[in-house]
Amino acid sequence: IQPTMFPMQTSENSFIKKLKSSGRSLVVFYGSQTGTAEEFAGRLAKEGIRYKMKGMVADPEECDMEELVHLKTIPNSMAVFCLATYGEGDPTDNAMEFVDWLKNGNANLNGLNYAVFGLGNKTYEHYNEVAIYVDHRLEQLGATRVFELGLGDDDANIEDDFITWKDKFWPIVCDFFGIEGAGEDVSIRQYKLTEHVDLPADRIYTGELARLHSFKNQRTPFDAKNPFLAPVKENYELHGSASERSCRHIEFDIDGSKMRYEAGDHLAVYPVNNAELVNKIGEKCGANLDTVFTLTNTDEESTKKHPFPCPCSYRTALTHYLDITSNPRTHVLKELAEYCSDANDKEKLKLMASTSAEGKAAYQQWIVQENRNIVHILEDIPSLKPALDHLCEILPRLQCRYYSISSSPKLYTTSIHITAVVVEYKTPTGRINKGVTTSWLKEKHPSNPPCYVPIFVRKSQFRLPNRPSIPIVMVGPGTGIAPFRAFIQERDFARKEGKEVGETILYFGCRKKDEDFLYKKELEEYVKSGTLILHTAFSREQAQKVYVTHLLEKNKDELWRVIGKQNGHIYVCGDAKNMARDVHNILLKVVMEKGKMSELDAADYIKKMDSQKRYSSDVWS
Ligand code: FAD
Ligand code: 2AM
Repeated sequence: IQPTMFPMQTSENSFIKKLKSSGRSLVVFYGSQTGTAEEFAGRLAKEGIRYKMKGMVADPEECDMEELVHLKTIPNSMAVFCLATYGEGDPTDNAMEFVDWLKNGNANLNGLNYAVFGLGNKTYEHYNEVAIYVDHRLEQLGATRVFELGLGDDDANIEDDFITWKDKFWPIVCDFFGIEGAGEDVSIRQYKLTEHVDLPADRIYTGELARLHSFKNQRTPFDAKNPFLAPVKENYELHGSASERSCRHIEFDIDGSKMRYEAGDHLAVYPVNNAELVNKIGEKCGANLDTVFTLTNTDEESTKKHPFPCPCSYRTALTHYLDITSNPRTHVLKELAEYCSDANDKEKLKLMASTSAEGKAAYQQWIVQENRNIVHILEDIPSLKPALDHLCEILPRLQCRYYSISSSPKLYTTSIHITAVVVEYKTPTGRINKGVTTSWLKEKHPSNPPCYVPIFVRKSQFRLPNRPSIPIVMVGPGTGIAPFRAFIQERDFARKEGKEVGETILYFGCRKKDEDFLYKKELEEYVKSGTLILHTAFSREQAQKVYVTHLLEKNKDELWRVIGKQNGHIYVCGDAKNMARDVHNILLKVVMEKGKMSELDAADYIKKMDSQKRYSSDVWS
């Protein structure tokens, strides 16, 4: 028997075969969790045509990535990687195996031409680690870097980072392969429209994520593609009447779902868009939202046949599948420009989609600063009347939102609690923007029949120490308290069971005692019963701000006793932007001062705590 190099290889997974059979030389892989890297990959692949490099988008999870060693058999070929970094510097789920293969393998990638663009967020510690690693490792394995690594920062303007990188990328690529002159910049539709008449209702999607009728016939196991429709059991206000904001305590019934969770896990919620916004888009496009349609990929090699579950009505697409409230990216504006009947409007959109300094500034001002979503754009450019199916093709997918679970399964086996602050703010154009998920959840009250919310549990790394006797310090201002409510419940439960429980110390911060002191009563009960040591910082009760970080600074001795002397754990949850960084800096200070270490040794000490899971954060921006 001839030994084959890839015994498991099927032609389905062979991207080389697909490239060859369709006459392409460019393959763009994506590591995507929320769809942005996938969208960027699609845009690059599409643009390849202009430069005589027909491109294909590919999901590394669905490809035999070992074939990269053979890409050089296709003349003038290149692989581009658009890779997002998550959490503690992790690759996205779909890129995990590929990154492991690079790490652990020793493939000879001589002759492979490549470039990498990373998607990250500077507020997190492990900024763009995956892309940086892959870019470096590919070179180490012998591949040729055609263009420098690009790094996108989602905390600033990742769209700008991407188009700036892409603009320099193409001329270098053309130079490298000796390609002369760019072809015309034509817009090509990726999907073909079919509108249906008389399609039986039971063949039409109504918001399901994957399997048709999965909402009617619920089947375990429940996950991202198959969420559980959970009845809302409880939904009450946590803020006092003096507060102008709202924070909800919401409980979901998971009885019979076989879903399990642990303290520290996240709950994912699939929201739906506001009906008024959906109707406005229908009106502005002059379309009947009840028309049932299908968008089918014109690229037959693509594994993605439809941009979202089809057939469905336009109303379903705009309500369940598409993101209609974020600031649209430049490629959306570029496609929209063609639908302006007024020449000035058309120029304005084209300018904002361009990469000139003037264009970028206009995009930054009119879209980002003034915070316009697609509805606002349609309202403010009256001559713009896009074909609704085209709009559905170019808008990004609506994403689920994550919430740190605020209950312990030890106490609540059949329900999951979350603590969600309602997003609502005024934009510079005087409009009130409402957070898609929180404004929708706010209205879901216990009722008969119940309100249902599609959810699934995402496992996290945020965990209590295995032994309850180990002391812990938790820092969680605002909704950062959510997972700590679950942690405290667990420790209280253990204590009542007669177990030895170490100190449980919480630093909580909010604006005012009477406004946004979340779970005040519960926490005070825990203090009374001896389960909890509570330090509170009320930032707006006096002239000068008092934050949890100020209290930590005051309590250096306590902090060092717990983490330095008693080998305790420290947890941080909440705002990733400033708070988590400030806590980190104070921790560094404490270790230096109380542990009598140099800055370098203290940083090492904290790194070690991190790897031993004695210092964990659950932060978001
Ligand atoms: P969206 O429709 O997503 O709107 C939010 C967006 O609006 C923001 O991203 C920002 O771009 C914009 N925005 C918001 N305020 C303003 C403003 N003042 N000015 C201009 N723009 C603004 N949230 C909780 O409440 N509790 C939790 O326990 C919790 N845990 C989380 C855990 C993880 C791991 C992650 C990633 C996030 C967590 N979040 C939590 C945040 C949550 O996932 C949502 O992002 C949040 O609820 C907003 O969702 P939304 O759909 O209501 O708002
Ligand atoms: P502020 O809004 O009055 O500035 C929950 O959001 C609490 O965290 C609020 O009291 C908020 O105060 C406070 N906060 C804001 N920035 C912080 C930081 N860098 N570190 C700790 N707490 C902070």
